[in-house]
Amino acid sequence: MNQRITVQEIIAKKKSGEKITVLTAYDYSGALLIDKAGIDIVLVGDSLANVVLGLDSTLEVGMAEMIHHAKAVNRGVKRALVVGDMPYEAYQIDVFKAVENAKRFVDEAGCDAIKLEWFDQCLEVAEMVVAQGIPVMGHVGLTPQTAEKLGGFKVQGKDAESAKKIIDNAKALEAKGCFCVVLECVPFALAEIITKELSIPTIGIGAGVYCDGQVLVTNDLLGLFDRYVPKFVKKYADLSEATLKAITQFRDEVKARKFPDVEHSYSMSIDEINRIKEA
Ligand code: KIV
Repeated sequence: MNQRITVQEIIAKKKSGEKITVLTAYDYSGALLIDKAGIDIVLVGDSLANVVLGLDSTLEVGMAEMIHHAKAVNRGVKRALVVGDMPYEAYQIDVFKAVENAKRFVDEAGCDAIKLEWFDQCLEVAEMVVAQGIPVMGHVGLTPQTAEKLGGFKVQGKDAESAKKIIDNAKALEAKGCFCVVLECVPFALAEIITKELSIPTIGIGAGVYCDGQVLVTNDLLGLFDRYVPKFVKKYADLSEATLKAITQFRDEVKARKFPDVEHSYSMSIDEINRIKEA
């Protein structure tokens, strides 16, 4: 059994100044590649809803789907720390379900930690889960599970008052024992303040360069999902284009009887063929 990166090692990276890399994964083959590339944290994100399951909102994904995909990801990861993203139904409907569901991510799926998005009772939930010895990654700023209450999918904390709330929320999560906090869609100057004020790492997504680490949705980075591409996404590849090209070539070659060719077929001896024909 290979040793995975620990929560303590993630926290130590903030002190040493080494940036922390985080990517989402939803299946075994994706997880294998992300782990092979040396990414520090693999997040089984509830963005599963949008980029894999074709649902409109992360609110539509539940524990059953998350655990199913988290198991596949954990089969592929040897080195990275794996975080299971708690879907809305796991903790925001009934906070007393949170511990049970967090334990499922660890015991059933093999995750090392869980992630919680900020909501009214987030601190109670974080405290209960941490008390069970399960490491918690917080998530403040734009929190997709409660985006409606925040005025939709837009940059958060642009005025001093709302920025102060985000700072307070991040600090409160640290006080409850979270090992790091995701800052989503906030101005880089605000992320810089939060990063300086916390002793745990900040992981930015649309939060600028001053965060201790960065996370992206892997399907966005690979150019595999273009239904909605936020400004903060950098496409490092265009796999939609490459995939479409390969599939179209397969279709054309099958229609033209070019595939499968001899190289991709199995042969047998003439003698055996004759024996079949004689029988
Ligand atoms: O679900 C997800 O992919 C996330 C990241 C965007 C942080 O929460």
